[in-house]
Amino acid sequence: MSTLISLHEVCKSFGGIVVADHISIDIQRGEILGLIGPNGAGKTSLFNLISGLYPVDSGTITVAGQSLDGLPLYQRARLGVARTWQHMRLFASMTVLENLLVAPRDYPGEQISHIIFRPQQTRTTDLALHEHAMAILHRMNLQGIAHTHVNDITFGQQKLVGLARALMNDGECLLLDEPMAGVEGAAYETMKTIVREEAAAGRAVCVVEHNVSFIKDLCNSAVFMASGKILERGSVDTLLSSKTLADLYFGA
Ligand SMILES: Nc1ncnc2c1ncn2[C@@H]1O[C@H](COP(=O)(O)OP(=O)(O)O)[C@@H](O)[C@H]1O
Ligand SMILES: [Mg+2]
Repeated sequence: MSTLISLHEVCKSFGGIVVADHISIDIQRGEILGLIGPNGAGKTSLFNLISGLYPVDSGTITVAGQSLDGLPLYQRARLGVARTWQHMRLFASMTVLENLLVAPRDYPGEQISHIIFRPQQTRTTDLALHEHAMAILHRMNLQGIAHTHVNDITFGQQKLVGLARALMNDGECLLLDEPMAGVEGAAYETMKTIVREEAAAGRAVCVVEHNVSFIKDLCNSAVFMASGKILERGSVDTLLSSKTLADLYFGA
């Protein structure tokens, strides 16, 4: 395994609230790292720092050795940072397929000049993207609802669509923010399968999740955060038997 994402001494605060306090984490290709901790620990903020929504106050974040310092979100996405959102952020009035087709970079059909002056190339790329999106939906057994509005599908299906959209750009770093929250049944099993497959394909995956059995089933190792700090890290079993974690997280 080789390191794909590396955070070194990353700090961020908002006024008096410290959301990242000298955070250092390496995530390897093929690894599924669990990121756990109570609400307000700074887990989503860490994803916001990696994906470029928040600038770091200090510290460095690299992907495949390249610094993300100062790069906007879209450039980080081009370098392979893909994420899902805790609150999904899907376009509710668009269809499932349309929600996937908004994701790709350099989508030629978005530019009217391409449609007019390069119709054949635009059509070919559109078809390829369409096929790519449908292939992802097939993997999730969502092909039957490709043309259904997101408003009209179940919550579990919406969570899968959020993941499907994140997969559209084939980013090598996959950041999943509470993918299982509110998900059960078939969607739960599908989510697990896809996350496993993505790691097996060599992606570095980081999952924020409160669902302990999901973390146990999937993650090679985990990090426990509270108040912007990493308090523990190690194998999932070690973390889950930690007294610090039990006191802070489970209130035991
Ligand atoms: N943009 C922001 N401005 C001010 N405070 C923020 C901002 N983003 C996050 N926070 C605060 O940082 C803390 C950590 O939030 P968050 O990263 O969402 O935690 P978690 O995902 O672990 O529940 C919370 O107290 C939250 O209110
Ligand atoms: Mg969060």
